[in-house]
Amino acid sequence: MSDRPRLLPLLGTTRHGSRDAMTCLYRCGNACDHPVPNTSDNTYFGDLVEGEVTRRGVVRAGAVGALVLGFGGAAAGALAGAAPAAAAPATPVLPEVGDPTAPQRGVGNGALTFKPIPPNQLDTLVVPNGYDHHVVIRWGDPVLPGAPRFDLHGQTAAAQAKQFGYNNDFVGVLPLDRRGRRALLVVNHEYTNEDLMFPGFTGLDNLTVEQVRTAMAAHGMSVVELERVDGTGQWRAVGQGRRPYNRRVTALATKFELTGPAAGSAWLRTAADPKGRTVVGTLNNCAGGVTPWGTVLSGEENFNQYFVGADAAPAELKPKFDRYGITTTARYPSGSRKWERADERFDLAKHPNEAHRFGWIVEIDPFDPESRPRKHTALGRFKHEGANVIVARDKRVVAYMGDDERFDYLYKFVSDKKFMPGDSWVARKNNLTLLESGTLYVAQFGQTSAAEIDGSGRLPTDGAFNGTGRWIRLVSGNRSYVDGMTAADVLTFTRLAGDKVGATKMDRPEDVEPSLLTGKVYVALTNNTDRGKAGKPAADEINPRNLNKHGQILELVEDRGDNTAESFTWSLPIVAGDPTDPSTYFAGYDKTKVSPISCPDNVAFDATGNLWISTDGNALGSNDGLFATAVEGPERGHLKQFLTVPLGAETCGPFITGDNRSVFVAVQHPGEITGASVEKPASTWPDGDYAKPGVVVTWRLDGGPIGS
Ligand code: FEO
Ligand code: CA
Ligand code: CA
Repeated sequence: MSDRPRLLPLLGTTRHGSRDAMTCLYRCGNACDHPVPNTSDNTYFGDLVEGEVTRRGVVRAGAVGALVLGFGGAAAGALAGAAPAAAAPATPVLPEVGDPTAPQRGVGNGALTFKPIPPNQLDTLVVPNGYDHHVVIRWGDPVLPGAPRFDLHGQTAAAQAKQFGYNNDFVGVLPLDRRGRRALLVVNHEYTNEDLMFPGFTGLDNLTVEQVRTAMAAHGMSVVELERVDGTGQWRAVGQGRRPYNRRVTALATKFELTGPAAGSAWLRTAADPKGRTVVGTLNNCAGGVTPWGTVLSGEENFNQYFVGADAAPAELKPKFDRYGITTTARYPSGSRKWERADERFDLAKHPNEAHRFGWIVEIDPFDPESRPRKHTALGRFKHEGANVIVARDKRVVAYMGDDERFDYLYKFVSDKKFMPGDSWVARKNNLTLLESGTLYVAQFGQTSAAEIDGSGRLPTDGAFNGTGRWIRLVSGNRSYVDGMTAADVLTFTRLAGDKVGATKMDRPEDVEPSLLTGKVYVALTNNTDRGKAGKPAADEINPRNLNKHGQILELVEDRGDNTAESFTWSLPIVAGDPTDPSTYFAGYDKTKVSPISCPDNVAFDATGNLWISTDGNALGSNDGLFATAVEGPERGHLKQFLTVPLGAETCGPFITGDNRSVFVAVQHPGEITGASVEKPASTWPDGDYAKPGVVVTWRLDGGPIGS
């Protein structure tokens, strides 16, 4: 650790729950300065109040879904390509896809044997005793063969477009051989922090256009070939050879194809793309998911902050911009990134439809480096946190998605077409179109104990925050179910459709992920400090605390165990915070044995189905971290902290390999604390000089699996 004086978050500099003001500026464009975009009087919360449901919902008879991502052992080859690293494949390598609907054993009750680590404010990555960790790749490291060495003082867009981007968020690791020795790391680069990137930074207005373009190139995604180190759980980036899959996707130059019912619609046409079918770049890619057919989905989240000039946009568009957090009363809203200095399409006064071309779920095929990534309009447009897919019993695929904004909604998409297992060209061609047509739903929750909810978080007398709910159809293919809106309207302005049909206003739905072992769906509801404020929606059973600083985890069980069902039961297994706080709940587990947790953000599962939760903005004073708990059996609710990230950072990813031997996390925005700069870093992670976002792998020193 450095002996420099350390910057710590100061009183009054934390906002958006507990994030530093600098994170608010760069990550979400000072969302807290702007009004909550959902001003709809959508207060529907009545006739779904039904009789008691069982405390833990309906336990499914016969699990569906399977872990398709395997590494070594019994899981080897569950999803594997077959290309040696240094040789170009004669034909594109196809991932081998098993049958993810095959029944599995062992569901979510694996023993987690690691000793939990304590909360801390250390400027380092802390893992449990008996574990080690290593930085796999960091901002500026080469990705494409021939990439120049990172030059802090001579950064260019061309160099950055070949190097690992900034602020890694989503992490996916896809096996590349059947022996578990090679893999592809796929990572999102959500946003940039120019204060911490450019020496001598004095303000966004003072950046050169080349620096703005460098930031645009530092956004997007990376695909990086990995190799296992000496048969352990450690992985490193392959540093030599052709690395044919390595790829950078950027906001600067990568072309995306729009698919689905809204592609080509009038909303998506611009001067540069009069057909409305091709978009340059992807923005603010937050979480994501690996599909059963070996592609990666990525959510375009706070895209609003990149646009200016909505004050001069056509009047009929202004309510739509407002609903998406694009300020229409000033040319430069608080938090503007000023990218229009480098590319005028970010000026809505000139190109008002350009904003509609962001806010989608993106699909990239890492096994085909020449493929054009796609933006799937069938999955709707909002501040997409991410999307995670499960194959339903009837082989249609279901994607679960959250809209990360205070008082916004939870969604799911059910495909029209069916998943085909296997690695034939026919199967692959079929599976790559699964997200292009289907039905989009928004969630509406009922409650069992409405009269007892007072905003304090006190558990109702029936012993649970729980209820039933239903999925409300918004659109199927080209057919809209929303009055006054066409299918293209619904898909492009999905938030407005959700308002009209009475969707339930949630406490920032972030990552939503089905357990592939049980089919149950877990939602991280990060926080909502506006809940219960004057003029804002009050607590309800699913968002049971006013001024909610710490968030909660939702478990959703589809009726009949069918992920295509239109109704469900739900409960809150975790209401987060310090376990000594009476408003917290850990599935009834002894709270003296539980780690404190605040602001759950991303969720993931290990091979035995345990739930792993990473945090964003710990409001208890500790650095952010990664936690794990069983979700079935007697250990349900026994939440333990596995790691913490350095000062100022957020824990992203996470990803646990199918052999349970490697835990990957993305360390996002280390040292992002007001007053920090390259010259005066608040964190010196990972190299002891200035702060760099990076991806870390953690493994057990004795070679054993994580947990049991
Ligand atoms: Fe990028 Fe919703 O966090
Ligand atoms: Ca209840
Ligand atoms: Ca997130």
